[in-house]
Amino acid sequence: MPAPRTTLRIKSPQLLVAESGADREGHGLRRTMGLFQLICFGVGAIVGTGIFVGLSDSVAQAGPAVVVSFVLAAITCVFTALSFAELGGAIPVSGSSYSFAYAGLGEPTAFLVGWCLLLEYGVSVSAVAVGWSQYVNELLHGLTGRQLPAALSAGPGDGGIVNLPAVIVIALACLLLVRGVRESARATAAMAAVKLAILLAFCAIGYSAFKDGNLTPFSPAGLGGIGAGTTAAFFSYIGFDAITTAGEEAKNPRRDVPVAILVCMGLVTLLYCAVAVAAIGAVGGDRVAGRPAALSYVVNEVTGSTIGGGIIAFGAVVAIASVVLAVMYGQTRILMSMSRDGLVPRIFEKVSPRTATPAAGTLVVAVVFALPAAFASLDAVMNLCTIGTLAVMAVVNIAVIALRRREPGLARTFRVPLHPVLLPLLGVGFCLYLMYETGRRTWIQFAVFLAVGLLAYLGYGRRHSTLAGAARAEVTSDAADAARQAV
Ligand code: ALA
Repeated sequence: MPAPRTTLRIKSPQLLVAESGADREGHGLRRTMGLFQLICFGVGAIVGTGIFVGLSDSVAQAGPAVVVSFVLAAITCVFTALSFAELGGAIPVSGSSYSFAYAGLGEPTAFLVGWCLLLEYGVSVSAVAVGWSQYVNELLHGLTGRQLPAALSAGPGDGGIVNLPAVIVIALACLLLVRGVRESARATAAMAAVKLAILLAFCAIGYSAFKDGNLTPFSPAGLGGIGAGTTAAFFSYIGFDAITTAGEEAKNPRRDVPVAILVCMGLVTLLYCAVAVAAIGAVGGDRVAGRPAALSYVVNEVTGSTIGGGIIAFGAVVAIASVVLAVMYGQTRILMSMSRDGLVPRIFEKVSPRTATPAAGTLVVAVVFALPAAFASLDAVMNLCTIGTLAVMAVVNIAVIALRRREPGLARTFRVPLHPVLLPLLGVGFCLYLMYETGRRTWIQFAVFLAVGLLAYLGYGRRHSTLAGAARAEVTSDAADAARQAV
């Protein structure tokens, strides 16, 4: 096994794979996921709050040109998805972008990537759970004509006290994840099927009432609106990289992880554009813009009854719950990798022998991210998730370039085409543009978040790093040998 390159604290891909045991059975986690399950897991992680709740925000910015926004957001993701596909196939470990950054750019960058992943995964679990709560209320309204009191279904920023449904969905996901990955994967596959069916049914209903005139004016707010709409639409794609966090539980990760990522991105992009055109074509952009539970509203308008809207609300409840499950899964696996490396406390790497899952770490994640879910509003956290995710994606694109130079002989089952000028670099450019679009306030919050991350690295991670510890031990034993020889 190649020795760790300690000067820059870069970990070789071979060492990462060997440590995780990803190339052998019996490394703690079980290999239960085939290609189909990985695709379901990807769809499970991606399609949720962004399309069911966020669509109305993107339409408010871009009007019917929201389809352009969806395509632009998808292009940003596809460029980076190709980089994820290359790295996920070459380094099939649970740490995802964190591990890729460790191999490509070294420990401090990897720690900060892991830190940003708390935004992409952890905080987005909170955001998505808040979106779930809105549709639970919509479903209750459809079924019984009544809703939960605002005090118990919204945080203080949205006129309530505590968002109980959001906490409950996180607790349920935690229970399922602790029980075992096979159970979680089965549940995710079933939920992915339900949400695809509901969104396809939505499209059929929307297109049955389609009017060309509803798509004009196509771009009421011009290019600025499309740009802002793209940033808003980006949230709907967050989660595609969660597939790479299943690298240690996939049956054939080197082949299936890259394929699953690309298939998922294609499917989801088509679906989002179809849903957006169906919604706007049926009732017009003005009536979709900014409307809560917009998809239920459209179906109620077209069918003239609240039953259809209730079914859509049911689909949203299932869809969004599966995002909570899949994204929370990803967060626990990333923390597990960081914990193995000594950069976060050891509790996150402990796998329960009974369930073969990181049970204690999952519980900690659930408790920590249930707090913002209980008390924060969706808008307050969505932009922060977006900027954190884009920063991670930019780093992954750069890691592809760095690893091609440093490890030209690494076995790659998929290679980013047109490397490096066209693809990874264009990927970085798109990410930076969307980061710019998130606005000054989000940048300030993000800068503070990164500064705290840097302090956490200097105060804990740097000193507890296993890589640095191994290097110190090697130096000490070399010095002892030298002293013995001198005597
Ligand atoms: N893409 C995920 C969602 O839309 C985060 O819910």
